[in-house]
Amino acid sequence: MARLFFALWPDEEAAAQLASLSASLADIAQGKPVPREKIHVTLAFLGEVDARACDEALAAAAGARSQAFTLKLDGVGSFKAARVGWAGCARVPAALSGLQSGLASRLRDRGFALEDRPFVPHVTLSRHARRRIPEARIAPIAWEAREFTLVRSETGSGRYVVMERWALLPR
Ligand code: 2AM
Repeated sequence: MARLFFALWPDEEAAAQLASLSASLADIAQGKPVPREKIHVTLAFLGEVDARACDEALAAAAGARSQAFTLKLDGVGSFKAARVGWAGCARVPAALSGLQSGLASRLRDRGFALEDRPFVPHVTLSRHARRRIPEARIAPIAWEAREFTLVRSETGSGRYVVMERWALLPR
């Protein structure tokens, strides 16, 4: 069994900016910053899956086609229930919505039970928050999303390991 999710990763520069923001948000929230190498946008969370389901996930992703896009994170806030601080975007790029909904529908067709909640793209930057982070605009942190990945979360270490990458179509 493996704990899997699909994700987008910031480039080096955006990851560095997000890591610094993560330290500030963790201070405000009195929470724990997400380490730089774990900062990502989740597209679909699969949970614990066996080898057969892993193959199904790979097949579903192979058919998901979408254009590259710029992801511009320009706001911060927190999800109270999950006690996480996040960075998100005021305007969700159409290519991102298309990529996520296409992938989710292909995964559902192959038997995955995904969350029904509407997709709210965000980067989780702090966890175990004790205080709320008031919603605010920030100087945008942007990167060009050119690929998406299937990631395994290692039991024990909690390290994220990229299992497979799929290029988005050039614009
Ligand atoms: P988050 O960024 O909002 O915390 C790996 O665990 C990723 O999958 C996390 O980034 C997390 O989202 C996301 N995820 C979505 N649903 C989850 C769940 N039920 N349990 C754990 N992680 C979940």
